[in-house]
This record gives sequence, C-alpha cells and structure tokens, in this order.
Amino acid sequence: MTMTGEILIAYTSRKGSTEEIARTIGKELEAAGKRVVVADLAGISSVEGFVAVVIGSPVYMAQVEKAVPDFVARNREGLLAVPVAAFAVGVAPVNPRVGSVDEVLGKLRAALEPVKPVAVTMFAGRLELSRMSFFERTVTTLLNVLTGDFRDWEVIRAWARELPSVLGVW
Ligand SMILES: Cc1cc2nc3c(=O)[nH]c(=O)nc-3n(C[C@H](O)[C@H](O)[C@H](O)COP(=O)(O)O)c2cc1C
Repeated sequence: MTMTGEILIAYTSRKGSTEEIARTIGKELEAAGKRVVVADLAGISSVEGFVAVVIGSPVYMAQVEKAVPDFVARNREGLLAVPVAAFAVGVAPVNPRVGSVDEVLGKLRAALEPVKPVAVTMFAGRLELSRMSFFERTVTTLLNVLTGDFRDWEVIRAWARELPSVLGVW
C-alpha cells in the first residue's frame, strides 16, 4: 500500500549511473516538498496510489532497456491513469557518433506505448572502461567512443524542478 500523493521514480540501471540520476531527481522533488519513492522498476508490482510516475532507462546498443516495456505491460492500466514523464541516459548527447538523441527519444516513446508521456528527455550518462565487461570495452574501444562521467547535475536538477508543473502535481 502506498500513501496517496507520492510520485514514483522508477528506474532501471546496469551500472548505477541512471539510478543516481533517479535518486537526484527524487531529492530535488523532496526539496520542493513532494513525497517521492525511488525504486528499480523490476521490483515494482503496482503503481496504484501514486499521483505521477517518472521512468528512467539507460540506452545500450541504441535500445532502451527491455525492462521498460515490460514494466509498462505489467502496469498498463495504472500508468494510463496518471501523468508519466520519462528520461533516457546515454552518451549520445555528448557523442553523436553513437547515435542521435531524437532517435533515442523516439525509441523511448515507443517503449512506453500505449502510455503517452507528458515529457521525455535524454541526459548524458557515464561511460567508464573500468566498469565494463571485456565485450563492452572492446566495442567501446573499437568505436573509439569518448569515456567519462558526462552527467550534468545542474541540467538534471533543473529538469526535476520543472516536473511538478509538467506533471500537473502541486
Ligand atoms: C556496451 C555499451 C553500449 C552502449 N550503447 C549506447 C548507445 O547506443 N547510445 C548511447 O547513447 N549510450 C550508449 N552507451 C552508454 C550508456 O548508456 C551509459 O554508459 C549510461 O550512463 C549507462 O547507464 P547505467 O550506468 O545506468 O547502466 C553504451 C554503453 C555501453 C557500455
């Protein structure tokens, strides 16, 4: 059972960078007086009682994580009844070589179908060789992709501050 009035921030994350973004968005909303639950979407069995839902996923090989459409399928009715916003995380915003942000946002919208998000965005993430498997390191090296932590916390917090009005929860 959840208390009414809470905002759910449901993320999926392989290496923690999307989780940290979700938690930062949660803190920013709490600082604005909102009640927030931040949780891995794999463990969420119901969105009942939440006034709005924010969904976050990293992008791997140009794809939003399958956990997102799975979550939407499990919670279809609940998600269709509340405002939903979503964010993708990846290196495309700082490295066009890996693909276009617009393409990712299209895939994010498709992963949410039939839910129509009130807002979607893509944040720059973190790509570190030390956190990669041999396969990932090989791909990254072959593609000559720039590594580093590209998360811009000011951009992330600014998006979070806009959320209550975008979601229509006051
Ligand atoms: C094997 C691999 C493939 C990736 N593919 C993409 C991609 O296609 N587009 C993109 O923007 N970022 C891509 N990234 C970057 C990740 O999205 C980025 O590292 C993100 O912050 C990871 O999130 P996480 O820490 O929550 O797992 C890739 C990273 C790895 C390791």
